[in-house]
This record gives sequence, C-alpha cells and structure tokens, in this order.
Amino acid sequence: MAVITLNGSDLRWECDEGDTIMRSALRAGLGFPYECNVGSCGNCRFDLLEGEIEELRADPPGLSERDRARGRRLGCQASPLSDCAVKLRLMPQYESLFRPQRQAATLVATSDITHDIREFRFRSEATSRFLSGQYALLHLPGIPGGRAYSMANTSNDDGEWHFQIRRVPGGEATGYLFSQLRVGDRIELDGPYGMAYLRENSPRDIVCIAGGSGLSPMVSITRAAAVAPSLAGRRIDFVFGGRTAQDICGKEMLQMLPGFGTNIHYHPVVSGMPEADDGWDGYRGYVHEVAHSLFAARLPSCEIYFAGPPAMGQAIQKMLVDLGVDSTQVHFDQFY
Ligand code: FES
Repeated sequence: MAVITLNGSDLRWECDEGDTIMRSALRAGLGFPYECNVGSCGNCRFDLLEGEIEELRADPPGLSERDRARGRRLGCQASPLSDCAVKLRLMPQYESLFRPQRQAATLVATSDITHDIREFRFRSEATSRFLSGQYALLHLPGIPGGRAYSMANTSNDDGEWHFQIRRVPGGEATGYLFSQLRVGDRIELDGPYGMAYLRENSPRDIVCIAGGSGLSPMVSITRAAAVAPSLAGRRIDFVFGGRTAQDICGKEMLQMLPGFGTNIHYHPVVSGMPEADDGWDGYRGYVHEVAHSLFAARLPSCEIYFAGPPAMGQAIQKMLVDLGVDSTQVHFDQFY
C-alpha cells in the first residue's frame, strides 16, 4: 500500500497494491479527472513530483513524449511502487456518486444478440450500483490490464452486471470472453466508472446514437430513462447503426419498455453497400447522417448520448458542433 499526497495541500489517500493513482483517488471519493480509464484520452494526466511508479501500458496514446519529458504521467496507468507526491487539479464533477470498487464476479449466463454481439451476465456479492451509461473494468486471467465495457442493465440490489460485447476479430480480451470464459467462472470486476451517464434532472428530450459495441450503454440509458419519474413524457430517439442487416439489433430490448412506440422511437440504420438479397428496406447511410436528416432541427434542444467506433464518434461530434449543440448536452466516453 502506498500513500499519495496532493502537492500544496494536506490531502492524502491510500493506494492498494496493484491499484492505480487515479482509481484509488476515485475510491477515496476524490474528483480525479478521467474519462477512458485505459490510457487513451489523456484526461487523467498529472505531474509526478516524488516517488516511483510502474506504468501499466507501455506506450499509451494519451501521453505524448513532451508530456513525459515534463514529468507528466497518466493517473489511470500509474501504479505506485512507493509513496508519491502528485500535482493536479481535482474537480468536483468527477467525484463518483457510487465509488468504484474491486470485487469478484461470477459469469451466470450468456446469450447471443447478433452473430458477433453477446450478452454476458455477471453476478457479484455486493449490490450493483451505477449510473446508466457507466462502465466497469473486467480483469481477465492472463490478460494484462482491465478492459472497459459498459453495462446494459440498470443499477440493482442483486449484484447483476450485464454487458453486451461485440467480438473484435483478433481481440485478446473478447477472444477470451467469447471462447474461454464459462458460466460459473469468476473474474475481477472494477467499477463503476464513466461520465457519459443519464442526466435524470435534464428537462430535454433524449437522443441515443449507437454503433456496434456502443449498444450496451445506450440500452442502459434508455432503460433507465423509460422509467425515471423525472423524465416522464420525454421523447427518446434511439438510432442504432450496423454495417449490414445482420448487425442490426436492439429493438427487441426496447420494445419491452413502457412508452415504446409512443415516447420511445427506434431507428435502425445500415451503412454497407446494398447486397442483392439482404432484405433491408430501412435507413441506409451512416448513423450521424440519418440522425441529422431525422432530427437536425431538434438536436440543439436535446440531451445527446452516443457510443461506438471512434470514426462514428468523431463524425457525430463534428455534426453536433456544426449544428451549434452546446457541449454540455453531449455525453460520450472515448475508448480506443
Ligand atoms: Fe487515463 Fe483516459 S488516459 S482516463
């Protein structure tokens, strides 16, 4: 166990062996800025003033050589080898409503959603408390570093954590999940994390845009929004994009929700070139193009959530900036 001291203050917190400086701060209730948790976004950079650390990821995209030369490191990748002194600005908006915790979770069921998306249901002994849209890190045997996956269900007392995960061709973690993990196996689950959660106190209508593995957090947000008393009567538009007709899914989950067809509207989109017999007669194009054609005039007055591949996220961000949507109404976490 190491003690981390915030420079220029009396503030200090403990970091258990194997934990990182950022995650231990969040567990202690501190607002350590972050987003992805996997070394990509750079939001968790801090100055290492004293002490030794081990970096979990060798060459993380979120840290430039210039940062490194200036003594900066990534909080999500920094595991202390001694007591450390750090410099950064804590921000209250990053304080977790539900502090992340590490716990064992058992795989209790799986079910295939499409040819390459499967739902994995885990159960932990403690309650499963999180905000819809957040994610957890799954630590898989033999695979260094946790992998971030968003929950598809909603906060509950039963310790249930459901993840809808797309198999990545050649992917080490999804290869393990799909091919080796068996019902009854236990892994370590660490969470919740993430800032792209449902804003239940917003008076705005909701637009959720998902592609591929982005299905899971958008389903969770829609499930929670459909029953939140503060959001009663809000319109929810759910746009889901896939490359081919066989990638399309999600409707079967949403149509079980109260308000489906009246307040909740599902818009599936196929982006690939038409094939002779794919049978698809719905929207074609990229999800941001279809969202633009359906709701361009309404988007500036909506709360917008999205998740999916980086190219999709960048295209959506650009569209929203071009439409003048206030960035405080736009919610996403970057993983890549
Ligand atoms: Fe650490 Fe994104 S790089 S939270």
